[in-house]
Amino acid sequence: MGFDTIIANGRVATAADTYTSDVAISDGKISALGENLPRENATKVIDAAGRYVLPGGIDVHTHLDMPFGGTTSADDFETGTRAAAFGGTTTLIDFAIQYKGQTLRTAFDAWMQKAAGKAVCDYAFHCIITDLADAQLDEMNALVRDGVTSFKLFMAYPGVFMLDDASIFRALRTTSKNGGLVCMHAENGGAIDVIVQQALAEGKKAPKYHALTRPTTAEAEAVSRAIALAEMAGAPLYIVHLSCNEALEKVREARDRGLPVYAETCPQYLYLSLDNFDAPGFEGAKYVFTPPLREKWHQEKLWNGLKTDHLQVVSTDHCPFCFKEQKELGLDDFTKIPNGGPGIEHRMSLIYSGGVAGGRFSVNRFVELVSTTPAKLFGLYPRKGTIAVGSDADLVIFDPNRKHTISAKTHHMRVDYSMFEGIQVTGMPDVVLSRGKVVVDGDKFTGRAGAGEFLKRALYSQP
Ligand code: URP
Ligand code: ZN
Ligand code: ZN
Repeated sequence: MGFDTIIANGRVATAADTYTSDVAISDGKISALGENLPRENATKVIDAAGRYVLPGGIDVHTHLDMPFGGTTSADDFETGTRAAAFGGTTTLIDFAIQYKGQTLRTAFDAWMQKAAGKAVCDYAFHCIITDLADAQLDEMNALVRDGVTSFKLFMAYPGVFMLDDASIFRALRTTSKNGGLVCMHAENGGAIDVIVQQALAEGKKAPKYHALTRPTTAEAEAVSRAIALAEMAGAPLYIVHLSCNEALEKVREARDRGLPVYAETCPQYLYLSLDNFDAPGFEGAKYVFTPPLREKWHQEKLWNGLKTDHLQVVSTDHCPFCFKEQKELGLDDFTKIPNGGPGIEHRMSLIYSGGVAGGRFSVNRFVELVSTTPAKLFGLYPRKGTIAVGSDADLVIFDPNRKHTISAKTHHMRVDYSMFEGIQVTGMPDVVLSRGKVVVDGDKFTGRAGAGEFLKRALYSQP
């Protein structure tokens, strides 16, 4: 049998096992696994000795080319997916936003247009619902049939994205029947708005007040309410960008009761804290996103949640805005700073470095958090998220010992700062393949805009 490529002698790591094996690729799929596969039958051989071969990363929370706060996130589907590939992420799930008065289909079509011809690796969409009449309940069923099998709802941003509890409950009842998954932005937007208005009236307008007006209790209350609504509806629930221990405790309690509740956290909550707002001048704006950064002690609680499966996924919530001109829209008022930070490129290295090199969990747990569980929850498994015969050859040759200092000077995201500037990671992707094609080779990009395909996803399944 002829192979297009053999990745030879690597340590294959999946969520279940670590073993030395060649990985053969034919027509974009993994076609054989085993030691000493016949090199003479391969068009190309890549030596992976001394390195891991991992399934490509799956980032289930990105915002490319997203309008927000009078501007648009700085990475589009080309620059964003390219930066993702440099970091070992070969699949992402972005969010198509339904604005008030629109159909869900309009949102989906608009985001399909944004990605078409640009994405360098595969992508899918969740649909953000901001306006939920009876017609949209039917549309949710139609989108699920078309492979958009998850929906993001907001309990924050009143008047913009926020849905009331009745609408949230109706959406959850719909997914309980159609097999989809609701992803919840859980913060009590009403209470937060009152606190924000008071801060502004007191002249507290610097970036740090974005964080100080969004207490952990507002997140924990919303997580708890979302869980209660999902339980009443008989639906599974996925909490996005969980940032603090109080919210984690609510997820843990629900899971201990056997409820199908899942949560992701993001590298910023594991590496950054309120201390970042001590940066001089307006620099704190670089860390304005929601939920906000928390006191430092939460970080270890979240790492522990990842280790013990109280948290199941690490995504990035990549939503980049340049410091110059975009973050600066809020120079005089933190409520005008576009919310979001850049992270798509460094998720794999940050989590490997802090998790595996840092001695907190195994390489298999790492793969589970950044690839396998995302694939299972969001209907991509086993096409994505593992290394098995028949799976897409989305693969990362990962050097567990290579050190790298993160900097805006060297990153590939189209944004003029890094949230993680100066942080040294241990563990970097050397070679990245998307459906069998090498898209990143060291510091060279060898992929192609438009090579990425839209992924019609199956229904959520329990990881
Ligand atoms: O501040 C953030 N997180 N911006 C992106 C939108 C969201 O809520 O995920
Ligand atoms: Zn959100
Ligand atoms: Zn987000």
